Amino acid sequence: MKKLKVGVIGYGQRGTSMTKGVLCKMDNVEIAMVCDLYEDRVEKAQNDVLEKTGKKPRGTTVASEVINDSEVETVFIFAAWEAHIPLAIESMKAGKPVALEVAGAYSIEQCWDLVHTYEQTKTPVMMLENCCYGRREMMVLKMVREGLFGKVVHCDGGYGHDLRYEVAGGIKNRHYRLRNYASRSCDNYPTHQLGPIAQVLDINRGNRFLTVSSVASKSVGIRDYIERNLADDETLANMEIRQGDVVTTVITCALGQTVRLTLDTCLPRFYSRDFAVHGTKAYYQELNDSFYFEDNPEHTKLHEVSWKPQWGNAKEYEEQYDHPVWKRYIKEGMKGGHGGIDWLVVNDFVNHVVSGEPMPIDVYDIASLMCITTLSEQSVAMHGAPQAVPDFTNGAWLLRK
Ligand SMILES: NC(=O)c1ccc[n+]([C@@H]2O[C@H](COP(=O)([O-])OP(=O)(O)OC[C@H]3O[C@@H](n4cnc5c(N)ncnc54)[C@H](O)[C@@H]3O)[C@@H](O)[C@H]2O)c1
Repeated sequence: MKKLKVGVIGYGQRGTSMTKGVLCKMDNVEIAMVCDLYEDRVEKAQNDVLEKTGKKPRGTTVASEVINDSEVETVFIFAAWEAHIPLAIESMKAGKPVALEVAGAYSIEQCWDLVHTYEQTKTPVMMLENCCYGRREMMVLKMVREGLFGKVVHCDGGYGHDLRYEVAGGIKNRHYRLRNYASRSCDNYPTHQLGPIAQVLDINRGNRFLTVSSVASKSVGIRDYIERNLADDETLANMEIRQGDVVTTVITCALGQTVRLTLDTCLPRFYSRDFAVHGTKAYYQELNDSFYFEDNPEHTKLHEVSWKPQWGNAKEYEEQYDHPVWKRYIKEGMKGGHGGIDWLVVNDFVNHVVSGEPMPIDVYDIASLMCITTLSEQSVAMHGAPQAVPDFTNGAWLLRK
């Protein structure tokens, strides 16, 4: 089997889990080169790949060397947020299809640069938004497409993850989140649930995001955590944190739907992406993993008294409504991290590189998702003032399927 020769850029937590847990296990992929800013991480990457595959990739601390290497055919970016768009643009200019991990943008201009680079080079680019491949997300999408929800009116989503330990450990772990939390206040991680919501709402394919309004709560969670757990660290003790603990964002769409996103990463809580879809005929909510169908008398009867007995009923619908991708995946055996979605997203990218088919999460989707961070940063600074979302397709969203 011909193997796609790939270069890996960024070997922190995510680069490690995606390389060892997914890329090294793919029969049609060979890791030709690895890169990180830190020498020790390059060495670790080389040794990890050697251990997993029996073949040691070349290593470098300079990303351009990976991108311009004659052997490397495709680039994976698992680097810090700030590096994503510049490295993706460089890869596209070098004619190397590129997959970039999830992140938000720092300016609208860089989103346009990404779009223009794609339009000039036609080099494929995809965001590795693994949550678009979640079992429930794909099941709900299938149901929406089959009309079970009627007209979708509103979606909720978010990123609820207690990241206090990770943010506060940023100096020790050389992690990018700390510097972002210290200097910005915005929805810095919108794509995990907005990716699947964009698919439900046909964004860039008949619909588009119009405006973004965000407000941020006060910022006390990380400081409080540092004071109670890391008081001896002088640098941290003197560091200001500007990121609001809870950021609430409302997005409006051209076809009239609204989306509410909640970023909640600075306070104690369990993990959740708060996914919910509100339609004229049905409702789904991730928090209690439940569907409510207006034509199901069991649901409407209980609605009048207490609905709690129905909580967790989504499992009952799996047999009938699981997405074919998941039906096949379960039958063939799930692989990789995050409940199997990491494998699905990388596999889909690799298959599209090989087939030359248009990417499922393409450059217009990437720009539309990543720009939310920039716009929410501006909106938070203006106490919730709505910000216009650019039409990155320049009108093509009216025609795109
Ligand atoms: N999809 C998911 O489920 C998921 C989960 C975790 C993280 N992520 C994403 O993965 C990315 C990395 O996150 P992480 O937690 O691994 O961060 P990390 O800080 O642990 O690792 C990032 C690595 O990139 C390296 N790096 C930064 N700029 C670079 C450059 N210009 N060239 C080469 N290397 C560079 C850093 O030295 C670091 O080792 C982020 O975009 C994050 O949002 C996605």
